[in-house]
Amino acid sequence: MSEGDRVLYAAHLGKRYRQGEVWIDALRDFTFDFPPGVTAVVGPSGSGKTTLLNLLAGFDRPSAGEVYLAGRPLHALGEDERAGVRLAHAGFVFQSWNLLPTLSALENVAFPLLLKGVPRRERNQRARALLDEVGLGHRASHFPHQLSGGEQQRVAIARALALDPLVLFADEPTGNLDSAAGERVLELLLGQARGRRRVVLVTHDLEIAARAHRILRLKDGRLVEVRASP
Ligand SMILES: Nc1ncnc2c1ncn2[C@@H]1O[C@H](COP(=O)(O)OP(=O)(O)O)[C@@H](O)[C@H]1O
Ligand SMILES: [Mg+2]
Repeated sequence: MSEGDRVLYAAHLGKRYRQGEVWIDALRDFTFDFPPGVTAVVGPSGSGKTTLLNLLAGFDRPSAGEVYLAGRPLHALGEDERAGVRLAHAGFVFQSWNLLPTLSALENVAFPLLLKGVPRRERNQRARALLDEVGLGHRASHFPHQLSGGEQQRVAIARALALDPLVLFADEPTGNLDSAAGERVLELLLGQARGRRRVVLVTHDLEIAARAHRILRLKDGRLVEVRASP
């Protein structure tokens, strides 16, 4: 496998945190080559799911092992370089949708394009198309506080897709939504696994996980099961 094929790949990945006098192995010896499609990550609270996501996306550096995103060795890069790889190749959807409160839905979606230096007219065109795709074309000029939770999360998904990421990361994306709004958000996320794109979906909800292409189960920082969905 050449580095360029390592769209999302981890080998012997580990993370230790110090908590006062003791060290916690939040993740141990994690090896997995993420195929295209949706991969759910499940496990009890404290099992290392968020730690894994933070390493896969280069927010944090591993204590051991290797991690590649879009062919780039995140474990060997400094913070600025990792941020560059992230902007170019990764999108994020979190439990709290954290849109910028002073920007409209359209401006929120266009924001990553602004960071990348895309000209205004092109930015707005692309942001509009993305809002249409998540069913919110009619809410473009609304501010986050004028939108429901489910609508805000759909804006967050549109924003995450703005730069057409190879990998879309979602950490409990429906955790703050009622079941109807959550279902719509989930459908949208599942539908984003196209072409070479990987979707990584952290959830404690096994019904949601069952709709992914495969499920990774973590326990005490270890990968204890890899299962293809039925
Ligand atoms: N920044 C940190 N400093 C110290 N310990 C941490 C830190 N982040 C996570 N941990 C510990 O690592 C373990 C895994 O946490 P986490 O990855 O957040 O689990 P999950 O997302 O599955 O609930 C837990 O024991 C947690 O307390
Ligand atoms: Mg977590």
